[in-house]
Amino acid sequence: MAVSPSAATDKFLWGAASAAYQVEGSTTADGKGPSVWDDYLDRLHLAGPGISGAVAIDFYNRDQHLKDIALFKKLGLTSYRFSVSWPRIIPDGLGPVNPAAIAHYRQFISDLKAAGIKPMLTLYHWDMPASLAAAGGWENRDSVKWFERYADAIFANFHDQVDLFVLLNEPSVERATKTLAEAIRDNGKGDFKILPDADHMAVSLKTYNHILLAGAAAKKSFEVHGYKGQLGLALPLFPTINEDGASDADKKSAVLADGVLNRWFLDAMYKGTYPQDVLDMASARGLDTGVQPDDAKTIGDAHFDFLGVNFYSPMYVRHGAMPGDDFSAEQYLPKTVYSAFNGAVRPDQFKALLGRMKSEYGNPPVYITENGAGFAGEDVMKNGKVDDVQRCRYLVTHIAAMKSAMSEGADVRGYHVWSSHDNLEWLSGYASRFGMIYVDWDTQKRTPKLSADLYARVIRGDKVTEADCVARN
Ligand code: BGC
Repeated sequence: MAVSPSAATDKFLWGAASAAYQVEGSTTADGKGPSVWDDYLDRLHLAGPGISGAVAIDFYNRDQHLKDIALFKKLGLTSYRFSVSWPRIIPDGLGPVNPAAIAHYRQFISDLKAAGIKPMLTLYHWDMPASLAAAGGWENRDSVKWFERYADAIFANFHDQVDLFVLLNEPSVERATKTLAEAIRDNGKGDFKILPDADHMAVSLKTYNHILLAGAAAKKSFEVHGYKGQLGLALPLFPTINEDGASDADKKSAVLADGVLNRWFLDAMYKGTYPQDVLDMASARGLDTGVQPDDAKTIGDAHFDFLGVNFYSPMYVRHGAMPGDDFSAEQYLPKTVYSAFNGAVRPDQFKALLGRMKSEYGNPPVYITENGAGFAGEDVMKNGKVDDVQRCRYLVTHIAAMKSAMSEGADVRGYHVWSSHDNLEWLSGYASRFGMIYVDWDTQKRTPKLSADLYARVIRGDKVTEADCVARN
């Protein structure tokens, strides 16, 4: 399917995204405090020996980010989604605000705007101050207040420069990553399960609830102060699907998984209720989720201005192996399915997801806050070029799917590729590249890949199809 030229309207935002810890480096500069990720990688070496965020792609360095912004401008980006680091802004999480960090980000935002690029500021993309992580992080209900205070500092210092704020990124994936980090710390290995297993269900639902409440509290405070802007959360949404020939138990498990990973968030935000099937499962299992009677209503009453959608893949679900447990559900990836690092490649499911936001959730304004892919062995520099044909096709087909959903009425306002650059992929270290811009880890040299060239054409309004993703080498 071709990408319609009409997508290149003035208002629609064409962007790319990154997150502070994955790109900035300079982990002790300008009075920054330690984050839980400094602990994971530098103190506990959970991503392997020598893998550290200390340099990453050197994005904290203004000389470097100015060159990167010049590249973004050349590609035609009109928006850039980045995150600010809580332990830079408030080094110990709760104490005084650090003026050097504020000055740094104000300069970065001015640099983006000078290039005609709209800043989309994410307040929190997983780098929790280490002191707060030690106090229980999102498991502690006080985290709602901690975040509200931090958000107030961000709004006070940036409301005059920024009007698009993503409050929090991907609660369920953050939780799954933390579970994996702790398993590696304690046992040397672990599984990455975004759908929590029985042992982690209670704590997952508890942290999801606190994160949603934290977002709601920040939104209220923004309004009380009378600031002007749009606020939303970036949710990783996973259409939960079965293979052909699935049993009734498999189908039932997929519905429950949808409840835990999608409806838990969306129902609270758009209906002011938590899904009954998940609440029933929690009470049948006797789980202590800490959810209080008015929590979902508080979240619904926040009326977020937009929904940030992070989409990579649907999730295959089957009935798990727990005997006698009706609700046992587990995620898996069928061996024969074409897939990227983050799962099955299914643009049709992206379209269906956007359609569902319209039919089931009142068609909220949506920004695609992340969409992208990485493929094992694909990003190889040859003759000065990186021909990431699979990523190129992934992006072109997903953009076409989004456009098709928009033509059927989905209210999508912008699209951000994950990621602008290859960067530090959390516990996978530097092994999994996701960027449109190749980064040489030794020299920090940047090289836009084939996918960047094609994305630039999409932004210009050219008719582009996956057949245009042709290797140049
Ligand atoms: C996260 C990013 C991550 C990307 C690719 C998303 O879930 O928000 O931080 O790098 O996926 O795995």
